[in-house]
Amino acid sequence: MLPSFRFLFLLLATVCTLGSTVVAVGVNWGTTTSHPLPPPKVVELLKSNNISKVKLFDADPLVLQALSGSNIGVTVGIPNAMLKSFNSSKKAAESWVHDNVTRYFSSGSSGVRIEYVAIGDEPFHLSYSEQFHPFVIGAAINVQTALTRANLASEVKVVVPCSYDTIQSESGLPSKGHFRPDLNKTMIELLTFLRKHHSPFFLNISPFITFNKNKNISLDFSLFKEAAHPHNDSHRTYKNSFDLSYDTLVTALSVVGFPEMNIVVSKIGWPTDGAANATSSIAETFMKGLMDHLHSKSGTPLRPRNPPMETYIFSLLDEDQRSIATGNFERHWGLFTFDGQAKYRIDFGQGLKKPENAKNVVYLSSKWCVVNNNKDLSNASTNAMDACSVADCTALSPGGSCFNISWPGNISYAFNSYYQQHDQRADSCDFGGLGLITTVDPSVGNCRFSIELRTSHTDSLSGSHLVQWMILLMVYSYFFLLNLY
Ligand SMILES: *[C@@H]1O[C@H](CO)[C@@H](O)[C@H](O)[C@H]1NC(C)=O
Ligand SMILES: *[C@@H]1O[C@H](CO)[C@@H](O)[C@H](O)[C@H]1NC(C)=O
Ligand SMILES: *[C@@H]1O[C@H](CO)[C@@H](O)[C@H](O)[C@H]1NC(C)=O
Ligand SMILES: *[C@@H]1O[C@H](CO)[C@@H](O)[C@H](O)[C@H]1NC(C)=O
Ligand SMILES: *[C@@H]1O[C@H](CO)[C@@H](O)[C@H](O)[C@H]1NC(C)=O
Ligand SMILES: *[C@@H]1O[C@H](CO)[C@@H](O)[C@H](O)[C@H]1NC(C)=O
Ligand SMILES: *[C@@H]1O[C@H](CO)[C@@H](O)[C@H](O)[C@H]1NC(C)=O
Ligand SMILES: *[C@@H]1O[C@H](CO)[C@@H](O)[C@H](O)[C@H]1NC(C)=O
Ligand SMILES: *[C@@H]1O[C@H](CO)[C@@H](O)[C@H](O)[C@H]1NC(C)=O
Ligand SMILES: *[C@@H]1O[C@H](CO)[C@@H](O)[C@H](O)[C@H]1NC(C)=O
Repeated sequence: MLPSFRFLFLLLATVCTLGSTVVAVGVNWGTTTSHPLPPPKVVELLKSNNISKVKLFDADPLVLQALSGSNIGVTVGIPNAMLKSFNSSKKAAESWVHDNVTRYFSSGSSGVRIEYVAIGDEPFHLSYSEQFHPFVIGAAINVQTALTRANLASEVKVVVPCSYDTIQSESGLPSKGHFRPDLNKTMIELLTFLRKHHSPFFLNISPFITFNKNKNISLDFSLFKEAAHPHNDSHRTYKNSFDLSYDTLVTALSVVGFPEMNIVVSKIGWPTDGAANATSSIAETFMKGLMDHLHSKSGTPLRPRNPPMETYIFSLLDEDQRSIATGNFERHWGLFTFDGQAKYRIDFGQGLKKPENAKNVVYLSSKWCVVNNNKDLSNASTNAMDACSVADCTALSPGGSCFNISWPGNISYAFNSYYQQHDQRADSCDFGGLGLITTVDPSVGNCRFSIELRTSHTDSLSGSHLVQWMILLMVYSYFFLLNLY
């Protein structure tokens, strides 16, 4: 009696310990960036911070090579634009799987530990209307067939990352959750497909956007604050926005007959610039609340002690070329700046601390482009606006880190962003004669005038123009000195 009881206890203890390690947190690694940090450096960054899962939006060979042998669990993505051909052609799906999954896949320590193939990115988003919607299920089936043929179906799952606007609740409460009516049929097809292949449902949740859209949701409620005013849904009490969103999906799944479907939170985060309440300090509070909630494994009112099986933070790095159609904060989701420097403290499972930064980052020279104050600046704003239409001026928006630098500091900010994005080419600091190259960092307070990263294409550029370059540099230094004295 006694030994078997002890065995049972040991077993239980083991199960509990195993259970406590199951909360898997990964990051989204997007590359909509003018000067990307080299993939091997990003993989080092992931490893030095013990980040064990990463979700990609495509299947860049350089990224997959860098992830080889890292033992990091990887989601590769099929861009929305490719879904149409994958719906109509089994061959196209097969050659994509061959080139982008089979070639790299390994469950051991040599290749890439690919766990998921994502069919599109938010293909049902309202802003796309019917552009991708009709091809999603056909593409998913064809990719699944290709994986089965490649003998990978037991290890690589096919998923569809859904935007939060695929679900609705008129009352704002989870008990009234349902899928968007125009998706009824597609969602049932998708869920039937996922259940058949034991794949989870991928949902993107954004408490920041929910807070900005919905006057009923307070900042405290979004940030997991104890003091937040709860939302009651009959006898269930919601203490934070995350649980409210998550359980709205749980209800939507139950309504159509899939109450047991596993859920992965495929994107969640808080931006740090470009809008009111988008700051590093608020993001730190949000992330701490989220991590504590996930690590506690308390689950949600509708799924108590059953938290999401995986959660992917959005995002790893800032991306200076992301679309700002939905807001200027879109380029500032990173836990790290574009150059891999930690913005705030986070608990990746080893306690709250500042993450390790990227190492040996290689920048362009210590030079900036600013407006020449000695010139007639009456046309400077037009030049700045032109610069901003291609460069990244999102930090200048209301609530942004550079909103407070006064005119013409904001003009300089725009000029510099344009100049850096053009690899500090002298002719990209012209602006009708109003630009001036300086070696004095114009950053003020929180407003950082960044220097871009040196990439392989900037190397070849500066090499071929070296002489021309040095002459220009001398001329500009001369004018700069003239200005100083
Ligand atoms: C990563 O994990 C190792 C072993 O658990 C630990 O020693 C190290 O401090 C962790 N690093 C970070 C940055 O958390
Ligand atoms: C998707 O592919 C199937 C099979 O080739 C085809 O019958 C169907 O018309 C395609 N759907 C769309 C919307 O083109
Ligand atoms: C593999 O993926 C890359 C990046 O997404 C894409 O450009 C390429 O066309 C894919 N290969 C095939 C055969 O589709
Ligand atoms: C906001 O809250 C009020 C009262 O609590 C409720 O009647 C209303 O439906 C809510 N609106 C939304 C959009 O959640
Ligand atoms: C969608 O499904 C729900 C629940 O089954 C149903 O109430 C609703 O009428 C459906 N809508 C459409 C447009 O089919
Ligand atoms: C919500 O429910 C809690 C606990 O059941 C209760 O104490 C509180 O008064 C309720 N709040 C509202 C606004 O109904
Ligand atoms: C959040 O932004 C609003 C303006 O939209 C502002 O009134 C409020 O003070 C901000 N809260 C914090 C904590 O910054
Ligand atoms: C400003 O722009 C206008 C129109 O292009 C031009 O006529 C004018 O000379 C410019 N002024 C200065 C000071 O450059
Ligand atoms: C901008 O300046 C105003 C007035 O000096 C100050 O009250 C406000 O907090 C500043 N905002 C930021 C984002 O620095
Ligand atoms: C710079 O600030 C001035 C004055 O506040 C404003 O009119 C102008 O639009 C700003 N320009 C940019 C590029 O933000």
